[in-house]
Amino acid sequence: MKALITAGGHGTRLRPITYTTNKHLVPIANKPMIHYALEKIADTGIKEVGIVINAGDVIFPKKIGDGSKWNLSITYIEQPGGPLGLAHVIKIAEDFIGKDSFIFYLGDNIILNDIKPFVEKFEKEKLNCLLALSKVKDPQRFGVPEIVDGRIIKVEEKPQSPKSNFAVTGIYVYDYHIFEAVNAIKPSARGELEISDAHQYLLDHNLEVGYSEITGWWKDTGKPIDLLEGNQLILNYTETKIDGEVDQRVAIQGKVKIGKGTRIIGNSVVRGPVAIGENCVIKDSYIGPFTAIGDRVEIYGTEIENSIIFEDADINCNKRITDSLIGVNATITPVHETLPSGHKLLVGDNSFIEL
Ligand code: DAU
Repeated sequence: MKALITAGGHGTRLRPITYTTNKHLVPIANKPMIHYALEKIADTGIKEVGIVINAGDVIFPKKIGDGSKWNLSITYIEQPGGPLGLAHVIKIAEDFIGKDSFIFYLGDNIILNDIKPFVEKFEKEKLNCLLALSKVKDPQRFGVPEIVDGRIIKVEEKPQSPKSNFAVTGIYVYDYHIFEAVNAIKPSARGELEISDAHQYLLDHNLEVGYSEITGWWKDTGKPIDLLEGNQLILNYTETKIDGEVDQRVAIQGKVKIGKGTRIIGNSVVRGPVAIGENCVIKDSYIGPFTAIGDRVEIYGTEIENSIIFEDADINCNKRITDSLIGVNATITPVHETLPSGHKLLVGDNSFIEL
């Protein structure tokens, strides 16, 4: 069996962060999001992984490498013509997959539990397709199955009147019949080859489409709030590990990870779960629960809680920052005693600021 992971698309709902960072490289608890997908796949014993990236993306392969870190072999596949749909992603991977069965894993999904049981069920029941489902409050945002007598009879993409409260999550297992489906379907009204249409094709052609329910935590990290929730979830599993330098006066409470070369000094409090990267300086500041801070960040005289601070950011503002994403190399400084007074902003397109 092989695996195919998505890492393309524009990540429009995460702009401006995704203008410069591929969504799948956004750090969750100080690790690029895509690492979680790779770890789950490595746990199943699969060795060969294809990752679909945007055409011309040279940064992603450089950052993630050849997969040896996870004992995997990664092949990068460029998606030509832009994000033309998830069924299009499968279509362009046909040469890589061949006649093998494979896990299709959307790289922006985070799941807590093991995915091996899905593969086992797929094999034991000799299915052509297995969909991992999860109960959600807002099925309109997802592919939604209609289930009758324990069997999926229909799948609709983002329906206005969902036929169940299940989402089809971004974890699928297929045999080669999926290629027949993705090659037969036509683009939807929004111009994409929809994965739900491919599933409907399998159902219409009497192929075996089974499902498993994800009962643990699952998240599609489409929006900033989802990233913060994913960050919270993963930080909950942080173990205390202090490799940096912590002043005697500093209070460290709960589970806190501090990277090499980082100095926490002055009158500071760090209340976990918190992860702080390498070579940071944190002085006279409060770092509260569910905060992840990337490498080389400097924070002076500031309170931060439930936030993701990307690498090289510089924060010194004498304010309390919560529920925020602060991008790479961003600077937040105090209002100086110069005229005209007021907040001076240099804000990128599609930013969101609450003053
Ligand atoms: O997360 C589960 C949902 O994922 C399913 O319930 C839906 O049925 C399915 O269509 C999909 O919906 P999204 O609207 O969340 O898909 P999105 O466009 O965000 O893309 C998901 C992933 O695939 C993400 O990693 C970006 C990548 N992608 C997407 C497209 C359309 C590509 O690499 N290429 C593409 O052409």
